[in-house]
Amino acid sequence: MKNHKIALIPGDGIGPEIIAEGRKVIDAVSDKENFKIKWTPYPFGADHYLATKELLNEEALKEISGMDAIYLGALGDPRVQPGVLEKGVLLALRFYFDEYVNLRPIKLLEGIECPLRNKTPKDIDFHVVRENTEDFYVGIGGHIPEGKSKQHLEVKRSLYNVKFGLDIEADGDELAYQIGVISSKGSRRVIKYAFDLARKKRKTRVTAVDKANVLTNMYSLWRKVFAEVAQDYKGIETEYNFVDAITMWFVKQPEWYQVVVAPNMFGDIITDLGAMIQGGLGLAPGGNINPDGISMFEPIHGSAPKYKGMNRANPIATIWAGALMLDEIGEEKAANDVVRAIEEIIKEGDVKTKDLGGTATTSDMGDAIVSKLKE
Ligand code: IPM
Ligand code: MN
Repeated sequence: MKNHKIALIPGDGIGPEIIAEGRKVIDAVSDKENFKIKWTPYPFGADHYLATKELLNEEALKEISGMDAIYLGALGDPRVQPGVLEKGVLLALRFYFDEYVNLRPIKLLEGIECPLRNKTPKDIDFHVVRENTEDFYVGIGGHIPEGKSKQHLEVKRSLYNVKFGLDIEADGDELAYQIGVISSKGSRRVIKYAFDLARKKRKTRVTAVDKANVLTNMYSLWRKVFAEVAQDYKGIETEYNFVDAITMWFVKQPEWYQVVVAPNMFGDIITDLGAMIQGGLGLAPGGNINPDGISMFEPIHGSAPKYKGMNRANPIATIWAGALMLDEIGEEKAANDVVRAIEEIIKEGDVKTKDLGGTATTSDMGDAIVSKLKE
């Protein structure tokens, strides 16, 4: 029997509740499909940080490096300044394990009410491949309270180290800046992933997102690499969309899209919109993928602190993220079982959480999916 080791990080807010349902479903499907999961929980998140001042630790990262994947609930807590947990835990994990693809399927399930009039599951079924290590997420910049400043900024990645020495002289009194970084290697690997995904899913079009009409430095490199990669994928049609325009088209004509590849920040923004057109954040899963390393799976929504402990959040995004994880660790059959069970529960419509207009609890939904799996 196959064994998989999974690091479990429930995190903050509704994280522990939704991750418990995900774990329940994965355990159920592992019995059915004859493999075993060894879960190793880690306490990272707000409580741990407030008690110890620690965000992550090297020992845990080393341990996790020997595992098969990470299953994450959500991070973020009102008791901690915004950015501390997000950067110190979530982004730190994405960067440490070099999870350079953020894969976000946008799929309207049958039985879900779509906020777009006249759109059906046939019309909303595509993937956003979001770059996950670069762009404005490299986290460097500065705040200059007075007119002069010297800054040494550094970005360390598996692909490169880049150092900026900045001598800043400004005659305004206070300013702040943030530096985005795009590299050709960093762009190439994620764009290649998008084209490979298109091939694997028998899709015929890949759309690149950018803002090359304004942020000309970063995104003309992005475009150049996209054009180069496209050369190797004859038979796949390509196009460029500006990020503002694609938000309009996601609403107006979502059926156009098959595989969309986006730089980190634009990918972040358009996938919240993607989540809404597939019926809401409660349904949208994501995977932070390093195809040759340790990948991490999570719902794309946040920790919803006001619903913490209420057994009310929809666990489907997390359960679906669990299916993406099963797929990535080689349990494709189990992954399909889980997605099918979610689809059937939704289609039957008897068990609906609050966000779907029903009264079912988080655990009711998990239980329903487990019993569907056992049928
Ligand atoms: C997401 C989230 C994160 C991101 C935040 C919490 C850092 O919004 O996963 O989409 O911006 O990537
Ligand atoms: Mn986001």
